[in-house]
Amino acid sequence: MMQKVTRLLVLLVLGSARTQQDPILLQENFDLEKFMGGWYEVAVASTCPHYMQRKRENPLIVALRLDHVPFGSNFTMTTATLRNGSCMETSTEYFLTNTTGRFFHHVARFRADIDSSVLHTDEDDGYAVMLQLSTEKPSGNKTSIIKLYSRTADVSPAVLHHFQALAMNYGMNEDAVIINQNKGVCFPGEKVTQLQKL
Ligand SMILES: *[C@@H]1O[C@H](CO)[C@@H](O)[C@H](O)[C@H]1NC(C)=O
Ligand SMILES: *[C@@H]1O[C@H](CO)[C@@H](O)[C@H](O)[C@H]1NC(C)=O
Ligand SMILES: *[C@@H]1O[C@H](CO)[C@@H](O)[C@H](O)[C@H]1NC(C)=O
Ligand SMILES: *[C@@H]1O[C@H](CO)[C@@H](O)[C@H](O)[C@H]1NC(C)=O
Repeated sequence: MMQKVTRLLVLLVLGSARTQQDPILLQENFDLEKFMGGWYEVAVASTCPHYMQRKRENPLIVALRLDHVPFGSNFTMTTATLRNGSCMETSTEYFLTNTTGRFFHHVARFRADIDSSVLHTDEDDGYAVMLQLSTEKPSGNKTSIIKLYSRTADVSPAVLHHFQALAMNYGMNEDAVIINQNKGVCFPGEKVTQLQKL
């Protein structure tokens, strides 16, 4: 599937967040509508030690949902995590940029600007890979996070292998990829107090 992809080349200023200076290769003909809906975050890797530590302590599959905002094509990402026995929802608005497949959002808690790029989508196998470059203010510290989203809680070894290869391309160590464990999830929008089996 990789061979058939002739990709759009986009040089990002934020590319300096990575150890290498490779340009970011976005998914060609990215279709935002097909990217909407429910996903599971099944694997992650990051150059940020704090993020990696948090994930290693709690490597669980997270359910998320992407929805357009009313009257616009920007979208929200709603994630649900179990905290203290309750399913807590967090919604973040992602703003479209002039580049198809690139989005922008701000995380107040870390005073960070996040530039997200969809590197790959595969509708047949139901997965997508997103690279997020984060710039913290005022330190200017830059880190990258790469995430594997899947329409199902299980992904094939071939998909994981592809994800690992992309993570390495974008400056992550080979052993940095954390594969989230399937211990059930709480779903965004559902008032549940227990994990649901996937
Ligand atoms: C996204 O939201 C921003 C800020 O509210 C707005 O300026 C922009 O027009 C929106 N973009 C689209 C494509 O809806
Ligand atoms: C968790 O729930 C218990 C019982 O409802 C409460 O006493 C405690 O303060 C909660 N902890 C947090 C961190 O919210
Ligand atoms: C998109 O391009 C227009 C025209 O070149 C520019 O005015 C606008 O600021 C750009 N928007 C973003 C979000 O980069
Ligand atoms: C910025 O990154 C450097 C090197 O990783 C680290 O030592 C420093 O504490 C970071 N600064 C902030 C404000 O996070």
